[in-house]
Amino acid sequence: MNKPFFLRVSSQKGGVGKTTIAVNLATALGLLNYKVLLVDSDVISPAVSFFLGIEEVNIGISEVMDNKATLKRVIVRHDVSGIDILPGTQTPRDYPSDKEMKNLIKKITKEGDYDFVIVDTPPGYAPSAVPELYNEALIVSTPAMASVASSIRLSKIYDKHHLQHNLIINRVRGNKYELSATEIESGYDGRSIVSIPEDPKVEFSESSHIPIMIMAPRSTFSVAMNILVRFYAAKKGASMSRTVEPKNSVISNILDAIRKFFRI
Ligand SMILES: Nc1ncnc2c1ncn2[C@@H]1O[C@H](COP(=O)(O)OP(=O)(O)OP(=O)(O)O)[C@@H](O)[C@H]1O
Ligand SMILES: [Mg+2]
Repeated sequence: MNKPFFLRVSSQKGGVGKTTIAVNLATALGLLNYKVLLVDSDVISPAVSFFLGIEEVNIGISEVMDNKATLKRVIVRHDVSGIDILPGTQTPRDYPSDKEMKNLIKKITKEGDYDFVIVDTPPGYAPSAVPELYNEALIVSTPAMASVASSIRLSKIYDKHHLQHNLIINRVRGNKYELSATEIESGYDGRSIVSIPEDPKVEFSESSHIPIMIMAPRSTFSVAMNILVRFYAAKKGASMSRTVEPKNSVISNILDAIRKFFRI
């Protein structure tokens, strides 16, 4: 049985790009033929299904945690990338406790056969049991000073719990008010940092419900994201000679037409 690599995509501040990064990382790994489960653990404002054009559901992670539905019943396949989604639900509830997350992770490990389990999280929530739950965390930040400062604070929490983490600086525009990679690195203790540029195609792809890594693989966002995809693929003995193309040929043809039309 495959032991999945559990990755927590996190931030203290909201709206920095966690869901965008989680969705694009997961689908890109899916297209490389890794078995991926993308979990939407944001039970207050779930967004993964929206980003992927999956119909809104009234059963999801909450029902699995409350033992009202099985994982198998709730998991949805995203046909284009071949990944599985554990959606959030429209039923409001409290954020999952450590115990609930532990049980969920146990279930996923026992019942699923995944290479990667990528967990999109709500902002500002750092469970104390993180090392027992995850192999690694990604901290997503923007280059704004306040966002970097809160990310460094989150990194210290992870350090305290001995959880390995890496930092992504998203929405980099290169203007003089932004902190530079060197400035951020000195505060972040020199661990891996990936810079992802601001790219207007991200919002276009979001409104089209197609991840930008699939819709516009040569966009500046996708090219930068590929560094991250390679980094995680390597954890499972990757071969990057695998091709990243939609699994469904009809969708592949439609995407080719969209790319030609919008020159992306
Ligand atoms: N690199 C980027 N370039 C342009 N727009 C981006 C980029 N990254 C994210 N966005 C946009 O920023 C908005 C917020 O992104 P997203 O929902 O992924 O953030 P989040 O951290 O998950 O938010 P929340 O904390 O509410 O869960 C979205 O509209 C998304 O399209
Ligand atoms: Mg989000």
